[in-house]
Formats: sequence, structure tokens, C-alpha cells
Amino acid sequence: MNDLDPCVFVLFGATGDLTRRKLTPALYALHREGLLPEDFVILAYARRDKDDLVFRADLKAAMAEFAPKVPLDKWDSFAERCFYQRGEFDSAEGFAALRERLDLFDTDRKQPHNWLFYMAIPPEQYETVAGHLGGAGLARKGATGSWSRVIVEKPFGYDLETSRHLNEALLTHLTEDQIYRIDHYLGKETVQNILFFRFANEIFEPLWNHKYVDHVQITVSEKIGVEGRGNFFDATGMTRDVLQNHALQILSLVAMEAPVRLDANAIRDEKVKAIRAIRPIPREEVSHLTVRGQYAGYRSEPGVPADSDTETYVAMKLHMDNWRWAGTPFYVRCAKAMPKRTTEVAVQFRAIPQVLFAKMKRDQVQPNVLVLRIQPDEGIFLQMGAKQPGPDMTLHPVNLGFLYRDEFPGRPIADAYERLILDTIRGDASLFARGDEVEAAWKLLTPVLETWKERIHDIQPYFTGTWGPEKADTLLDPGQTWREP
Ligand code: BG6
Repeated sequence: MNDLDPCVFVLFGATGDLTRRKLTPALYALHREGLLPEDFVILAYARRDKDDLVFRADLKAAMAEFAPKVPLDKWDSFAERCFYQRGEFDSAEGFAALRERLDLFDTDRKQPHNWLFYMAIPPEQYETVAGHLGGAGLARKGATGSWSRVIVEKPFGYDLETSRHLNEALLTHLTEDQIYRIDHYLGKETVQNILFFRFANEIFEPLWNHKYVDHVQITVSEKIGVEGRGNFFDATGMTRDVLQNHALQILSLVAMEAPVRLDANAIRDEKVKAIRAIRPIPREEVSHLTVRGQYAGYRSEPGVPADSDTETYVAMKLHMDNWRWAGTPFYVRCAKAMPKRTTEVAVQFRAIPQVLFAKMKRDQVQPNVLVLRIQPDEGIFLQMGAKQPGPDMTLHPVNLGFLYRDEFPGRPIADAYERLILDTIRGDASLFARGDEVEAAWKLLTPVLETWKERIHDIQPYFTGTWGPEKADTLLDPGQTWREP
């Protein structure tokens, strides 16, 4: 076992999709691998009338549905750690009862348990629940000794104003270092590796700037459409659902300066600086710096209004006003109904001077591209030019690279939630978004979202299984093209 702090994991939203799909498999995997604290209890707090045994059976059913290949050899010992408490989210009595139940776990203990509250609930309820945590003495703001931490799921706010409000509301009852704002992309190994790759390898840093990088493309594409989440998605859209958080987090890691230390605040200081360096997009620039699209058939999806103006595709050209990146555009696109599911960063270096190879065809002399493939087939590739064997002077693009699965065969990539839950128990917030980071992202995007709402700029249709609207090509500078991942 390990020396992690004893803790009760209080789960709000026990019957929700996230719990079933992600949290249950992640908690069980951590248990199975012996990574949880020895003294670790899961207590669900939810509205439905259930008892511990029914709750345990629900968890098992979720495993069968969402993680059918995982052996349940340690299920019984896991189930014994899981408990259920019925209660409403807006009831002071309910939270008083929760407090009593939590105290029961401390009977016969010298030190009370630490508490980890996971808000896997609709965002409208975050503030209410935080208020009750404060009211019932569960928040332990400023307390020394046993700790309380709160994990908040995305979306964190709907725009700048609502995210500020939510930050203020949470900070009434908690301190910033008790709040863990989840962006599950930060829990992905390959996203974490951006930092390692950049700063553990001397050869890239001298090239990592506007002098050598022509542009950067960040792509988050999904093959699926809204898959039964029409209601939620239509009120959200691709920009709020993915670009504001996952894509900008990736961008900040690619663009940031080296942190002074590898600790949570030092890393996040640099990330927030990178996001703040993105040039604001004024109203009059929205039409030529952004493109939004909608896949054909989206308006017939269940839960989607027939006149919906919600984007399932978004692409933006972002300029960074800082020393390192001035003049190097960052193109970000996030979309559903694409030809394939892929998340990647492509750093395209500048073309070589056309002196030696001037007589060759243009497509033979391709600039170097460094691709950080975040998923699937995780790996890193550097496209180079090599002489093709033979009597002619012909250049041919070749790849230097590695795939995680080949390089680390005994170490499969764990789900992001496993890592993130473990980090909250350890008290390491490096892979969580800080309040100012989230606000900086909303500050950039809110004016764009507001301009779109006026419907002056038409949303572009595109067919499922294509790389999105043609208009996206107009974002690019001459000589640049969108990569097909
Ligand atoms: C979630 C979004 O945050 O990320 C979903 O709400 C999206 O709409 C998902 O499908 C993508 O995550 P992943 O890990 O499958 O790339």
C-alpha cells in the first residue's frame, strides 16, 4: 500500500453519465492497482432512494457497460468501500445528515478523514452545493490538519461573467488551493508529455519560436456527432465544449515559457500568461479570424431545434502578442462528424531557403513538421526530407518518430481520470485549471460567442465525414494548408 492521506471521496452525481462512464472505471482501476489510500471510502450523495447494496450493484452494472474488459477480480473488496447517502442538493438538512454520516467513518480514529468532494452534477448546482458544504462545516476553509478539496467538472461557466461569478461563489467557501477544476485533457499522458518533450530536450527549445516556426495547428476532431447528447450540446456548442478548455489548454502548453519549477502554481503562471498573450478578436475581425460550421443532419438530431445555430465545427486563427510567437499564427480547430477521431498538434517549421533544391518540384521540398499525436495511436513524429535512393537528386519526406505502445509496451496509457483523481488525493493541482486561467480563456472567447449570436455571419454547412467547411481555408496565410491528420 502507500502513504496517501486517508480520505472519503464524496460523489455528487452518482447516477450521472460521467460517474458511470468514467469515474467508476477509474476508481475501480485505482483500487485494483493498489493506488488508493489504504483508508479510502466512496460515499455517493444523490437524490434517488437507494441503499449501499443497490448503489454497489449500479456501479457494477456501469462496469459491465462501459469497461466490460476489465477483470472484476477485486470487485468485492472495492464494493465494500462504496456507500450511499440519500439527499437533495439544495437541502441544508441533507448536508447536515451527510456530515453525520461522514463523522461515522471517523469513529475510533485519532485523526478525522480528509474529504474529497466530486461535483459530477449539472453546473447550475455547483454554487448551491458549495454553499451547503460551507454551511454544514464541510468546506474546512483555511483549516489546518484534515483537508477538504472540491473537484469541479467542466463546463466552468458559460462565458466570462458566469465564470467570474462561479469563481467568486466558490471562493466564498473555499480557498483557491482547495478547488480542482477538471479538464480531463490535462490528465492525458500525451498532453502532459508536451511539457516534458519541450523542456527535457535541448534541441527543440532554440527552434520553438517565431523565427523557425511558420505556424502551429491544433486539431481536436471527433468522428461521432452528438450521440444522443443533443440537448446538452445544442446549448453548448463546440467552442464552449472543447475549444475553450481542451484546445486552449493544449495551446497554452505548446506556447508557454518554461516554468521556474515543476509545481502547480509555477506551471499555471506560465500557462495563464500564454492564454493572456493571445490577441483579442474584436467584433469586426470575427468573420475573418473564425469559422464555424454545422454538419448536415445536425438539426434533425434528437434534442436539437430545427433552426439551431449551434456550431459543431469551429476553427480560429489566433495571434500571440508576445516575444516568442509574434507573427506565428496558431490555428485551432475542433469539430464533430469528421473523417476520424484525432487530437494532434502540428508544429510546422519554416521552409528552407529555395537555393539548393530550387529545381525540384515544390511538393518535394516540404518544410519540417513536428506532430505531437495526442490520441489515438499516441506518438511523436518529425517529418524530414531525405534523399530518395537512386541516380536522381530526389527528396522524399520521411518520418522520425515513436509510438507510445511500441516504446512502453508494459505500460498502457491509463485513463485521464485515474491520474486526476490520484492527484487530487495527493494535493497536486498541476493538472487542473486555475481560476484565472479559466477566466482568461473566457475573456478571449466571450466577444466571439456574442458576435456569433447576432447571426450576422452565416454558419457554414459541411458533410459528415469531411474535414469541415471550405471557408476554413480562408483563415490560412498563403502557402499554408490544413493538415489531414
Ligand atoms: C468532453 C466533451 O469534454 O470531451 C465531449 O464534453 C467530447 O463532447 C469529449 O466528446 C472528448 O474527450 P476525449 O477524451 O474522448 O477526446
